[in-house]
Amino acid sequence: MEKKVAVIAGDGIGPEITREARKVLDKVCRKYGHTFIYTDVLMGGASIDVHGVPLTDEAIETAKSSDAVLMGSIGGNTSTSPWYQLPPDRRPEAGLLKIRKALNLFANLRPAYLYEELKDACPLRPDIIGDGFDMMIMRELTGGLYFGERRTVTENGMRKAIDTLTYSEEEIRRITVRAFDVARKRRKKVTSVDKANVLDSSRLWRQVVEEVAADYPDVAYEHMLVDNCAMQLVMNPGQFDVILTENMFGDILSDEASMVTGSIGMLSSASLNDTKFGLYEPSHGSAPDIAGKDVANPIATILSAAMMLRFSFDMDEEADAVEAAVKQVLREGYRTQDIMSEGKKLVGTAQMGSLIADRI
Ligand code: IPM
Ligand code: MG
Repeated sequence: MEKKVAVIAGDGIGPEITREARKVLDKVCRKYGHTFIYTDVLMGGASIDVHGVPLTDEAIETAKSSDAVLMGSIGGNTSTSPWYQLPPDRRPEAGLLKIRKALNLFANLRPAYLYEELKDACPLRPDIIGDGFDMMIMRELTGGLYFGERRTVTENGMRKAIDTLTYSEEEIRRITVRAFDVARKRRKKVTSVDKANVLDSSRLWRQVVEEVAADYPDVAYEHMLVDNCAMQLVMNPGQFDVILTENMFGDILSDEASMVTGSIGMLSSASLNDTKFGLYEPSHGSAPDIAGKDVANPIATILSAAMMLRFSFDMDEEADAVEAAVKQVLREGYRTQDIMSEGKKLVGTAQMGSLIADRI
């Protein structure tokens, strides 16, 4: 099969980790007889440096005309990088929000699970870990506070900032349907997270979730308040299968869930619209402090590439092969610095990529 892949290497460790993901994809192509045609797309700081804006219309067009987008990470050090002297809508993150909206990527899937091989890195006590955990956070990605009207005004000499949080039932319904579809292929449980004791948007969220749930009698569901969910994630993470939530709650809870696994460098993500198209990126950030040092863990990006194979290209066998290669390398004891423990073999970014590619 021939596929067009737009590659956003981005900032910080982005170029190194996408290079390794491409190395693995190239091996997949050789082994399974596919051709992937890559086009580099600038976004974030890398685009600001060249074009003065974090995402150009041409970049969006290139992404749109591809079958999928593979992304590294964007952004720099917010206290030292000159990018953060720019007005907010010109900073690196604005590029990411813009591409999500432009491509209608409303469904963000962020798996968080405990790797058997990396159990020691989990910060939770063994009695809390129990048999481990494996959840999928489904975050609504193109609505809510991140896309509401905002402004800062001065009234009677007092500065005042306003952000607005809006959800339509259609926006809630489409991500909810996705979440129930995903749950159906997993352990058949949806935990919908909201703040319905305070917010109108959350009360509507609950109603729509219940309407959708009626079409999925085989999937169990519950509502949970977001503050309780934050607590439950560290108290009993094994209870969760699919967590469905709005944009900002999902942003926060997905960081918490990934940290709880102890291996944020391992976690992938997919942002999907209602076609086969998707944008795939690691769950972690651009880690500017370790950029260019060949120490970053490329596995989250490699696993994001595997999600691309599975969701956008229907290449399940190839995706399985990538995931199995990652597991094998871990079983053989290879570790990047972030997941290193005593008695294991420390390797750099490029070597980790090669080891995984070799095992496909
Ligand atoms: C994420 C990031 C982004 C977000 C930032 C960089 C805008 O934190 O993907 O979780 O908040 O969505
Ligand atoms: Mg985030």
